[in-house]
This record gives sequence, structure tokens and C-alpha cells, in this order.
Amino acid sequence: MLIAPSILSADFSRLGEELAALESAGADWVHIDVMDGHFVPNLTIGPPVVAKLRPRTTLQFDAHLMVDNPESMLEEFIKAGANLITVHQEVSGDLGTMFETLASNNVKSGISIKPETPVEAIQQWLGTVDVVLVMTVSPGASGQAFMPGVLPKIEALKAMRDEDPNTYHFLIEVDGGINASTAVQARDAGADVLVSGSYVFKEADYGQAIATLRGDR
Ligand code: DX5
Ligand code: ZN
Repeated sequence: MLIAPSILSADFSRLGEELAALESAGADWVHIDVMDGHFVPNLTIGPPVVAKLRPRTTLQFDAHLMVDNPESMLEEFIKAGANLITVHQEVSGDLGTMFETLASNNVKSGISIKPETPVEAIQQWLGTVDVVLVMTVSPGASGQAFMPGVLPKIEALKAMRDEDPNTYHFLIEVDGGINASTAVQARDAGADVLVSGSYVFKEADYGQAIATLRGDR
């Protein structure tokens, strides 16, 4: 079980220190929520900030692009040092070309679906991507409530991969409203990676919060 704290809930005035704290707390990835003010109303961080953070940690950078035109930003995020870049199914644009660009730059690729988007909508990409990011809240903000109605999609993705491991190698990443109790539900449904924003960062001890999400203690 991998844990990817979302720095959307971190103290933005001390991001470098927050990364160091996550690293010593045992985080696996750093989840970076990129919002463009169009795909979602909120506006967060872009490639220049990611590039400045890159030397501050060896943790994998997991960039979740909640943007209307991800293709236009891929090169910049690759240059900034993202290790995994996830784009949404619900955007326009040529996803196949984007996944090729990522692969040719040795960057892992992910596809994300909003709570209302069915798994069938990404069927054609499931053999290509490294990660399927299943949203359990509507994208746009941290601190929202987990939507248990999404759990069957996680189960379906896991069943598909278990049935045909030669075709599918994606990890299932679950994002939105993850806390100590919803983490259990997501893990039981088949999640491999849990994103957590508000739950991890509101705890005084990030290490304890991460261990709890992982199911260690
Ligand atoms: C929502 C983001 C999430 C969010 C998670 O648009 O994609 O990554 O920051 O925050 P919590 O864990 O508080 O729901
Ligand atoms: Zn996210």
C-alpha cells in the first residue's frame, strides 16, 4: 500500500519543509494537485513551483492535472521533474499522444475519472497507463466527504487486472476524502495507492497518520 499525501493541504508558505517532513514520515509519493481555474474553479500550483521543490526530496512526484488542456502543459511538468503525470478522461485532447509523450520521456502515465464517470469510459487506455486515479470526491478541493458509491469502480478495476495481468499493469490510486475509516474501505475494494490531503496534514504526527492509512498501526 502506497501513501501519497496531497500538498494541497500543506502549509504553502513552507512547502520545502513540508516535503522533508513527509519524507521522514514515510510517505511514498507526493501528490501534487494542479488546478487551472477552468477544469475546476480553483487555481493551485504549476511547473515553476514543482521545479523548485524537486531538489528538496527524493519522493516520487505524482502530478494530478485537473486542467482543461493538459497536453499544453506536459513538457513543462516533465521538465519540472514529475515522475507520474495523471490526466483526466473528461478533458478534450488526444490522450494517446499524451501517453506516448510521457512514455518517451520515461514518465509514468495516469488517467483519472471523476465520481460520475464510469470505468467503461477509460477501457481503451487500461492496457496503456501505469495508474488509474479514481476520484472519490468531485475534483476541485480538499476536505470533501468520501463518496462510497465509487467503491464498485475500484472493485471492477481490480477484478479486471487480476483476470488479465498480462494486459493490465496499472496501479489503482484513490483520491478524495481518505481518512482512517475510508482508507479501510478503499483498501478492501482494491486500492494500491491512497491520496490524502486534509487527514494527513491536520495530524500533528504525519508518520502516525500515514501508518494508519497504510493499515500498519
Ligand atoms: C481534489 C484533489 C485531492 C484532494 C484530496 O480535487 O484531487 O487530491 O486534495 O484532499 P482530501 O484528502 O482532503 O480529500
Ligand atoms: Zn488529487
